[in-house]
Amino acid sequence: MTKPTTNNVGIPVASDNDSLTLGANGPILLQDHYLIEKNAHFNRERVPERVVHAKGGGAFGTLEVTEDVSQFTKAALFQPGAKTDSLIRFSTVAGELGFPDTVRDPRGFAVKFYTSEGNYDLVGNNTPVFFIRDPIKFPDFIHSQKRRADNHLHDHNMQWDFWTLRPESAHQVTWLMGDRGIPKSWRHMNGYGSHTFLWQNAGGEKFWVKYHFKTDQGIEFLTQEEGDALAGSDRDHHLKDLYNSIKAGEHPTWTLYVQVMPHDDAADYRFNPFDLTKVWPQGDYPLIKVGKYTLNRNPENYFSEIEQASFEPSNLVPGIGPSPDKMLLGRLFAYPDAHRYRIGANYTQLPVNAAKSPVNTYSKDGAMAYSNSPDPVYAPNSYGGPHADAAVAGETASAYGASGEVLRSAYRPHAEDDDFGQAGTMVREVLDDAARERLANNIIGHASNEVSQPVLDRVFEYWRSVDKNLGDRVAAAFK
Ligand code: NDP
Ligand code: HEM
Repeated sequence: MTKPTTNNVGIPVASDNDSLTLGANGPILLQDHYLIEKNAHFNRERVPERVVHAKGGGAFGTLEVTEDVSQFTKAALFQPGAKTDSLIRFSTVAGELGFPDTVRDPRGFAVKFYTSEGNYDLVGNNTPVFFIRDPIKFPDFIHSQKRRADNHLHDHNMQWDFWTLRPESAHQVTWLMGDRGIPKSWRHMNGYGSHTFLWQNAGGEKFWVKYHFKTDQGIEFLTQEEGDALAGSDRDHHLKDLYNSIKAGEHPTWTLYVQVMPHDDAADYRFNPFDLTKVWPQGDYPLIKVGKYTLNRNPENYFSEIEQASFEPSNLVPGIGPSPDKMLLGRLFAYPDAHRYRIGANYTQLPVNAAKSPVNTYSKDGAMAYSNSPDPVYAPNSYGGPHADAAVAGETASAYGASGEVLRSAYRPHAEDDDFGQAGTMVREVLDDAARERLANNIIGHASNEVSQPVLDRVFEYWRSVDKNLGDRVAAAFK
């Protein structure tokens, strides 16, 4: 038997098709509450899109720890044999909700682990570095990637103006203009935690770590021409690929590795290990295998489970803490703030965002409060309410030493820090001739799009600083 249509509180309604009118062609009546409810709810269907990373898709999966890294962290999800349910969301950065998937842009790789000690979120990208190293520059950087104030168009002149004025962007821009700037699909790219994080083991020993999710499908990319063609013919190409693969039982997997740096190495390592524009060369800190990450379930409802998903780098569980990376510290504030605005104060109560471990919080009430805390609603109390316990929390936030004057400091390099060195290493030592040629052509194509002469001159110098041959090759194309 077909189910009767009801209104939003379960009362059966008389018609799916005809409003209540006075006479067959008469005016509609305000007493048709269902008509009004249906249209009023429709008017409120959207929540604001994410200010960045608006277009994306995701799936559910599992992390299975196959190795023993317990000497580095006591976090429950990384103990040998642990299996943890997870949600991932992939995205592009600069476009809006309906934007094509195959544009040249970094890809978000945001992972939520529903651990036995609360939610742990690793909100990374498909690149191990980023364009800037201070969160005060994030709105400026994003504005340069989004639309102009006057004509509401994207503007390559604005992008190159910003990049060349902030040379710390060079490593990430080299990556972006290379093959990995347009992945073939979300399944065919790596994910990186990008920042350095603190790990602490059961004995209290501290380590710095970087996360690498290496795709088991193999790295594959689209050329600029292939990406452009798909942007016109199949705007949701990556979303469709992920959904259809999982639906067909082809579950994509990634092998999770970490690089681990002993705590005291950080002070005089040749690169600033907390600078998000730098990697740790793998010859210095090799990859250590942790386990297997598998995606095995599609969302049943995109809006409830993906659009309303809230990832936040501040979700750190016992055994894991932040590092002094300024960008990471800026992000700890930014994401919960965005969710309170975009979804609402009680966003953590939505099923996709709710912890699967017990929540004993003194937060209460607010718009759409559902699982509200019982009495007592204050601490301390003498009525059996929860007690905070530093030993249980294993707080690592203050585990690294910090002291000094309050100041706004320009970047203070370690021995081998500069803005261009690692980008140059990638161009000269990682790429082959064909990849270098595609990199040069992608830069030339991108900078050919209405970039003004003074900015172009800086573009040539920027690339000469990365690699003399590459810069000369780019400049020659504009003669
Ligand atoms: P390694 O030779 O040990 O590592 C090189 C890395 O480059 C590998 O992780 C590889 O990833 C990645 N890579 C290969 N082709 C490309 C490409 N077309 N675009 C982007 N990355 C690519 O050298 P180092 O660790 O000394 O790093 C050398 C340079 O490689 C760095 O300056 C940095 O630019 C880049 N890089 C370094 C990474 C790191 O964590 N150390 C990570 C990624 C890049 P894969 O094995 O998945 O193909
Ligand atoms: C999304 C801020 C840097 C990866 C977002 C959102 C904000 C934000 C406000 C939207 C959140 C939402 O509405 O749900 C910032 C700030 C940064 C920064 C202030 C620097 C100071 C980074 C870096 C990375 C990153 C360095 C990766 C290494 C992501 C991802 C998303 C995102 C993957 C999408 C998450 C999702 O799928 O819901 N960022 N960001 N961001 N950011 Fe950042």
